[in-house]
Amino acid sequence: MADPVLVVKDLSKAFNEAQILKGVSFSVNQGEHVSLVGPSSSGKSSLFKLLLGVIPPDEGTVFLMGKDIAHLAADKRHPILKQIEMQFQQGALFDSMTVRGNILVPLNEETDLEPGEKEAIVCQLLKSVDLIDAIDKYPHELSGGMRKRVALVRALAIRPKIALFDEPASGLDPVTSVHIVNMIKKLSKEQEMTMLVATTSIHMAQNFADRFLMLNKGRIVADGYWQELLDHPDPWVSNFIRKGI
Ligand SMILES: Nc1ncnc2c1ncn2[C@@H]1O[C@H](COP(=O)(O)OP(=O)(O)O)[C@@H](O)[C@H]1O
Ligand SMILES: [Mg+2]
Repeated sequence: MADPVLVVKDLSKAFNEAQILKGVSFSVNQGEHVSLVGPSSSGKSSLFKLLLGVIPPDEGTVFLMGKDIAHLAADKRHPILKQIEMQFQQGALFDSMTVRGNILVPLNEETDLEPGEKEAIVCQLLKSVDLIDAIDKYPHELSGGMRKRVALVRALAIRPKIALFDEPASGLDPVTSVHIVNMIKKLSKEQEMTMLVATTSIHMAQNFADRFLMLNKGRIVADGYWQELLDHPDPWVSNFIRKGI
């Protein structure tokens, strides 16, 4: 059995008076792929931000690689948090930079690699999403799907152990969405990464992973494989997935 790289225990968060996450617990093993699926406003993006340490929990703990991120000394936090990356839902590229420039941002900020090594990484990532010809283009010269693909590989540039994708295909047509998910799966195999994809689409969730975490109103209402969801005692779970198929 692989070791868990991410363990979440009893996580709760409120914004103002509204309780956004309630007692969320789950764990993810090294190399595992998990779909975080739930309706809009169920708390998916907030959960990802808590995992990244961007916002602190009110209660509960996030262990990344065995370390409690909320209670690490500042100098110990950064190396651990570098192991987890996210493509934000609104993950905008820098408009004034080319595709190359965008992917170089995390490499310049987080690594001491030589320029040639960085260039090699940029090229390899762009080839893997069929965008090597766009290396010198600016975001406005790309289609929505192409921009998403650049944002995808930018999130992977520094080879995090865990990658989070927040609605990676939102705003794209169904064919391009499938293409994006296939790219994520291919990249994860190449880079042997642990990956979580947040989505409202049960179809995308199924395409991405065998394991599903279902979120409803800030609670994990199901954690399991497809058949377990179909047979789930909570009718909300089986209704949600049947509606979505
Ligand atoms: N910074 C914030 N301040 C106040 N409320 C927030 C904030 N971020 C999210 N929310 C609220 O938390 C709930 C969950 O949001 P979110 O995590 O974005 O859900 P999802 O990603 O599943 O759509 C929503 O009701 C949203 O309005
Ligand atoms: Mg969201």
